[in-house]
Amino acid sequence: MSNNISNELLLQLNGFIASRMGLHFPESRLNDLNRGISSAAQEFGYTDIESFIRWLMSSKLAKKDIEILSSHLTIGETYFFRDKKSFETLEGHILPELISSRQDGERHLRIWSAGCSTGEEPYSIAILLKKLIMDVKDWNITILGTDINPNFLRKASEGIYTEWSFRNTPSWVKEGYFKNMKDGNYKIIPDVKKMAVFEYLNLAEDVYPSLLNNTNGIDIIFCHNVLMYFSHELSNRVVHGFYNSLLDKGWLSVGSTDFVKPLSSQFTIVNYNEAAIFRKDAKKTHEVKEFQPKDIPSFALPSVDIDKSLQLNKRQEKKIEEPERERQRADLRRDAMLIRDYANQGRLNDAIKWCERAIASDRLNPHYHYLFATILIEQGRIEDAVKSLKRTIYLDNNYVLAYFILGNLMFRSGELKTSRKYFSNAIELLSNYKDGDIIPESEGITAGRLSEIIETIMPQ
Ligand SMILES: C[S@@+](CC[C@H](N)C(=O)[O-])C[C@H]1O[C@@H](n2cnc3c(N)ncnc32)[C@H](O)[C@@H]1O
Repeated sequence: MSNNISNELLLQLNGFIASRMGLHFPESRLNDLNRGISSAAQEFGYTDIESFIRWLMSSKLAKKDIEILSSHLTIGETYFFRDKKSFETLEGHILPELISSRQDGERHLRIWSAGCSTGEEPYSIAILLKKLIMDVKDWNITILGTDINPNFLRKASEGIYTEWSFRNTPSWVKEGYFKNMKDGNYKIIPDVKKMAVFEYLNLAEDVYPSLLNNTNGIDIIFCHNVLMYFSHELSNRVVHGFYNSLLDKGWLSVGSTDFVKPLSSQFTIVNYNEAAIFRKDAKKTHEVKEFQPKDIPSFALPSVDIDKSLQLNKRQEKKIEEPERERQRADLRRDAMLIRDYANQGRLNDAIKWCERAIASDRLNPHYHYLFATILIEQGRIEDAVKSLKRTIYLDNNYVLAYFILGNLMFRSGELKTSRKYFSNAIELLSNYKDGDIIPESEGITAGRLSEIIETIMPQ
């Protein structure tokens, strides 16, 4: 294999990697880029690196290709309770305040570890929550770990670690929350393991906040030692996305070397114990639209069998004139916005109520059933969500996202055959779109991107 890469080509590659993956290699790290790309070339089956780089920059890269590249170019350096001060702030201030504010109402918490590497960071957060909440089983807790490197995510999902992952970690962590394995490794206990979920998400390219990838209505985002690898422009964009993913008064915690300049204008900086943490202050930037009771149609929810009523209504469906259709579309846009607003504010019960009312006013509208399903998923009511998604498809059998989410839910529950069926339906429908077309109701996901995602996760 020829390892020589001209400086010009290496710089072009650097720009390409920055725009597609967000990875920024400053001049001092160009050697790392050279090394990483050489080993990626081998995995892609190339013996000549320059030809590989040219192919890379001229091809429409699939998500799988980006994943392979990222596994050669990213650094996963991490360990349990790595950023001591930040975890102290979390344990001593942020979590106790959040827990007590939710104790008597909707007991839910949503935390996102963005760039979670092999999972030590999200599991550290799960351990703290288990330590702080006596009746943690009665809470609806989401700890989402995302990363661009699928090998890291696989390791995170296994939850098995070597001594190296505890290199600067207080001893109570290993003693209380891990089991010793025969081979000398440590396995995280099931109660903690099940608190975290791991998903692929490219911070440079993917859409967030989104109900689809669970990145909306977040209480705390932990993004440590990730922004430091990004260009300033990308770092700004990512932080802006985080701002929108957070609930008002939600928290953003970044590492001490991460780029923080853009944060100050949108967030309030709070100093605890020498660890700065950023708090979203919606009033600083825009007013969050408040729910107006006068918007609610003034009828009570009729107690009818929704499926029977759907069949009846569907048979009686009459031709709808165009002005009426336009009015319906406007109503839908307004309702969908309100429902998303609620979901993004973490007011899931309000979002559910609004969906129920919207459905009662227009039972034949597939979008309402779809929105309803997405909120039910956030509430952990998976069986109900599946029913709503099936209703969506019954009313509109071209509803790509309903097939996609059903495929996902079936996959998670181990029903691989059914999952494959739903994913195949989604792929078939997606072939009617151009790659760059935005999928309706997707909050900006293109047909090309959704196809890639499905192809990666679809069970064989
Ligand atoms: C140094 S590790 C940090 C791990 C952990 N947050 C910590 O501080 O211990 C950086 C992580 O960011 C991930 N990463 C880099 N670029 C990314 C991107 N564009 N989207 C998502 N994750 C990315 C890498 O794969 C790697 O796992």
